[in-house]
Amino acid sequence: MKTIWIIANWKSNKNISEALDWVSKVGSKLPKKENLKVVICPRFSCLSEVKAAIQVGNFPIMVGSQDLSSFEPGSYTGEESASLLSELVSLAIIGHSERRKNFSEDDQIVAKKTTQALANNIIPVVCVQGSDTPIPEGCKLVAYEPTWAIGTGNADTPENANEVAEKLKERYDIGLEVLYGGSVTSQNVKEFIVQENISGVLLGKASLDTEEFIKIVKECAGEAN
Ligand code: PGA
Repeated sequence: MKTIWIIANWKSNKNISEALDWVSKVGSKLPKKENLKVVICPRFSCLSEVKAAIQVGNFPIMVGSQDLSSFEPGSYTGEESASLLSELVSLAIIGHSERRKNFSEDDQIVAKKTTQALANNIIPVVCVQGSDTPIPEGCKLVAYEPTWAIGTGNADTPENANEVAEKLKERYDIGLEVLYGGSVTSQNVKEFIVQENISGVLLGKASLDTEEFIKIVKECAGEAN
């Protein structure tokens, strides 16, 4: 049995009351299993409230961010440094293709952000678009997310995702955990997580809806013990 990660990337969605409503509807419905890691990544400005609600409910949910700064704390207007974020998050998505495309993030910036995350005890989840994308040193968790599959309803095949994951592991580190992301739903999630080299999923759209998200977690729970 392997650890299964289910990471919800809410992107730029949900105001604070919508985020808290989601937590209260989903939190108590999730199975508690050691090898099932459920993470939600809200907007920066919701992190504090979301984290408090999870703690009060004692829900089996970790909190992550969708990004972090490549700089230390200091004179960097608008940035969220890893050291300050570490009070709130245990994981951070780094190098998502939407950041690479819209905010000119390149592999060097992704590597710097990964260094910041690791130095501050935040687990970096580095998004890669294929088996050739560089993986920064020290990164143990990556998400294979082909850009054409993101938000299109056109997921990669589980077999191809498994092959890409296998190549990544061979190239970098056999202990690397690889997630798949791109149009994952409650209908197709099981096919991905049963693949030998896939250790979970990164969800966008399907994570916004409470019922759909609960279904996805339940589909995954049987594979994690
Ligand atoms: P999607 O997004 O599930 O809506 O395709 C995935 C992602 O952007 O991580």
